[in-house]
Amino acid sequence: MKSRILVLISGSGSNLQAIIDACKSTNYPGEVVGVISNIADAYGLTRASNEKIKTNVLSHREFNSREDYDDALIDVIDSYQADVIVLAGFMRILTEKFVNKYAGKLLNIHPSLLPKYQGLNTHQRAIDAGDKTHGVSVHFVTEELDGGPVILQAKVPIFENDTAELLASRVHEQEHRIYPLVVRWFCAGRLAMQGDTAILDGKPLPKSGYANEE
Ligand code: GAR
Repeated sequence: MKSRILVLISGSGSNLQAIIDACKSTNYPGEVVGVISNIADAYGLTRASNEKIKTNVLSHREFNSREDYDDALIDVIDSYQADVIVLAGFMRILTEKFVNKYAGKLLNIHPSLLPKYQGLNTHQRAIDAGDKTHGVSVHFVTEELDGGPVILQAKVPIFENDTAELLASRVHEQEHRIYPLVVRWFCAGRLAMQGDTAILDGKPLPKSGYANEE
């Protein structure tokens, strides 16, 4: 049976699309069963509807506290009986309760080579720092914001005169390659989190993820 993938978004949903497209291959071990957005007009909702995938909008503006929002989000999530919850540009800080409830089945993609540049504006910060290399990380979510164990990273070069927009589009290309791959590993039962370590095929991954020993 295919694993049930639930995707949370706030925006364009290009990573959602990459995962939906990957699921179309017959041997992909998962299917996207739902998409939840905290933003009513997120384009990712249109992408989901185009693919006949169920959607929910749960606006954070309708809640008085982060705790109340996450409690409501938990109710919607649990209605899907998902095997894996994929944060794909879901721009919310999550409560401890939420993160702990889904520990080990909550994945995120972050546009930097973690632990560098947690938080926002990662592309501009990498340029401003004079970095020659930038990239993206897929990681398990833990209580530490953008701090959970890294599963896979992809690197891109930073060129002279790069802008944040150019760099973001270079990073996006890599995001669309690595996120469906990591979700595939998870759905196939190859990936797990033990404590603060990501485990692939029974072996602990290095701190910066698969095939990256630096
Ligand atoms: C992606 O670049 C993702 O890495 C980033 O949001 C973008 C969503 O794009 N996530 C974060 O910054 C999380 N801290 P998309 O909506 O086109 O998939």
